[in-house]
Amino acid sequence: MSLRISRPAFIEAMQRRGVDITKASRQEMRSYVCAQCHVEYYFKGEGKYLTFPWDKGFTADSIEAFYDEYGFSDWTHEITGAPMLKMQHPEFELWSTGIHAKSGVSCADCHMPYERVGSVKVTNHWIRSPLKNINNACQTCHKWDEAELINRVKTIQDRVFETMTKTENAIVDAINAIKKAKDNGATDEQLLTARKLHRRAQMRWDFIAAENSMGFHSPQETLRTLSNAIDFARLAQIEAERISKNLAAK
Ligand code: HEC
Ligand code: HEC
Ligand code: HEC
Repeated sequence: MSLRISRPAFIEAMQRRGVDITKASRQEMRSYVCAQCHVEYYFKGEGKYLTFPWDKGFTADSIEAFYDEYGFSDWTHEITGAPMLKMQHPEFELWSTGIHAKSGVSCADCHMPYERVGSVKVTNHWIRSPLKNINNACQTCHKWDEAELINRVKTIQDRVFETMTKTENAIVDAINAIKKAKDNGATDEQLLTARKLHRRAQMRWDFIAAENSMGFHSPQETLRTLSNAIDFARLAQIEAERISKNLAAK
């Protein structure tokens, strides 16, 4: 009945990070089992070998640095021509940077809370939003009442959603500015920096948008990642507008 890891990609990624998962504690395993799937990944090389990009760490920045070094892109943006990265569902990575992970709280603590069946204690296998089961999922540790707990989650998620929408507006402005520079005759070489910035902004936005907790798993890291995304998007816009201005002056 003990927990097992069966997916090679997770075992290999952790090995490259210097972690031997055969020595993992049961509490660590209660997150590691989920980290076989709820993660960012890519298909490496000709054989399309399933690989997790964690060699440099779990933040969006370190994942980007890994892909940059490897020279990877998932797709080319149709309007700007930027080489883009598509994030999958980095729950494990985002959770890793948050207060619950730091406090040793596993995925299963919230998503598969213990419950009593007759005289035995078992984990609930109906994996879903913990907000549907706050009594078992949160109140074992937090003595706040149910309305207060929901309110705290909602406050985090509303702030993240607001910032995410602002990030999207910034990225759309960057896309439009690059399109204009292209229409004005900018060359690939001239557009290199603006395209790089577009890639950097959008992968950070996607890291948060594709993650499924709307920032709850790590609120501060979420807002840091989005604020960098807004910065890169506005820098892309400024760079593209500068190119258009220079072209118009010629
Ligand atoms: C073998 C891959 C795999 C593993 C391992 C896995 N998941 Fe999932 N999980 C999925 C997929 C795929 C979905 C989406 C299912 C769908 O949309 O129908 C999902 C959905 C979910 C959902 C959303 C359920 C809902 O109500 O819509 C939660 C929460 C979740 N997983 C948590 C976990 C936790 C916690 C663990 C570890 C205890 C875990 N998962 C392990 C693949 C996996
Ligand atoms: C401290 C509690 C807690 C921990 C630990 C935690 N989560 Fe969550 N998770 C939540 C909350 C709260 C939400 C938001 C649910 C909602 O909005 O309805 C969520 C949302 C999710 C969702 C989307 C669920 C849905 O209904 O769409 C997935 C998938 C998920 N978590 C997976 C994980 C994985 C994998 C881990 C470990 C790497 C993890 N969570 C760790 C509390 C937790
Ligand atoms: C196994 C214990 C445990 C469980 C289960 C748990 N938490 Fe926590 N939570 C903690 C610890 C420890 C902290 C760190 C702060 C502290 O020490 O009080 C924390 C912090 C928080 C914070 C403050 C976060 C921040 O960034 O400041 C919120 C909000 C929170 N938890 C909500 C929840 C919700 C909602 C659930 C259920 C979905 C939940 N917790 C489940 C132990 C837990």
